[in-house]
Amino acid sequence: MKPIRKAVFPVAGLGTRFLPATKAMPKEMLTVVDRPVIQHVVDEAREAGIEHFIFVTGRNKAVIEDHFDKQVELEATLERRGKDAELAELEDSLPGPGQTSFTRQQAPLGLGHAVWCARELVGNEPFALLLPDMVMQDEPGCLKQMLDTYAGLDEPANVIAVEQVPEDQTFRYGIVGVGEEVGRAFRITGMVEKPAPGTAPSNLIISGRYILQPEIFSLLAEHQTGAGGEIQLTDAMLRLAENQSFYGYHFRGKSFDCGNKIGFLSANVSFALARPDIAPEFRVALKELLEAE
Ligand code: UTP
Repeated sequence: MKPIRKAVFPVAGLGTRFLPATKAMPKEMLTVVDRPVIQHVVDEAREAGIEHFIFVTGRNKAVIEDHFDKQVELEATLERRGKDAELAELEDSLPGPGQTSFTRQQAPLGLGHAVWCARELVGNEPFALLLPDMVMQDEPGCLKQMLDTYAGLDEPANVIAVEQVPEDQTFRYGIVGVGEEVGRAFRITGMVEKPAPGTAPSNLIISGRYILQPEIFSLLAEHQTGAGGEIQLTDAMLRLAENQSFYGYHFRGKSFDCGNKIGFLSANVSFALARPDIAPEFRVALKELLEAE
C-alpha cells in the first residue's frame, strides 16, 4: 500500500457565517485559545506523519501563507529578549522549508472543485484531505487514527471519518450508508449530501477527514454540480465507490465544527479547559459567568 505523504487543506470558502470577522481575515485564522484554527488542523496532520501540506486558497487568504512562514525579525527579537518558550513554540508550529504548497481556487465553486484544484500538487498518489472547519481534540489525533486503520486494509481503499448526530440534524451534512463492520471501521454502502429530512441512510456524518485515492481527480474534473449548485466532493466519491472500496471510520475524541459559532465557541472552552496553564483560572471565570446569568 502506498504511504500517505501529502495532505490537502481547502481554505477557499467565504466564511459568510462569521461576518464581519471574516470580511478581511480568513475564518481559518480565527483562534481557538491561542492558535489559529488552521494551525490546530496542520498540527493534527503533522502528528500523523504528513510530509507535504497543500493549501487551496482564495482571495484574502494570503495571511495563511504568511502564518506558515518563518518570521525572522520576530524570532530575532524573541531571542534577544530571552523569550525561549515563545520561540520554541513558533519553531515547533512550522512545517519545514519546501513542505508547504499554495494554489488558488479562483472562484468558490464548491468543496469538490477546491479539491480538484490540488490535483497537480498531489499527483498520482493517495492523499489525506482535512477540512479546517473541523477541529478535533484527542490523542492520537483523528488523522493518525485513520492512517493506522488504512495501513491495516488489504486494498488501496478510501477512508472517511464519521460521527453520529441526532436524526433531525442529518439534513445539514453528508451522510453515509453503513455496511459490514471491519474493526472500528465499516464498509460504506452509499453517500448522500444534505439529504431531505427523513431520507438519510443513517445518522453518521462525514466529518471532515478523508483518505482518498487519486482516481477522485478525474471524476472531479467533470465539474458536475450537485446540492446547492456546488461541485460536491460527496458526489464524486459516490461515483468512485462504484469501482473502489470506501470505509467509514468512527474516530475517538471530540470534534468541533468551527465553521459555525456554537462549535467555534465550544472549541475554545474545551481546548482552554484542557490546557494546564490556563484551565484552573479559566474554570473559575467560566463558573462565575454561568452563575451570574
Ligand atoms: P463551507 O461549506 O463551510 O463554506 O466549506 P464556507 O464558504 O467556508 O463557509 P460559510 O458557509 O460561507 O460560512 C467547507 C470547507 O470547504 C472549503 C471551505 O474553506 C471549508 O474548509 N471550501 C468550500 C473551499 O475551499 N472552496 C469552496 O468553493 C467551498
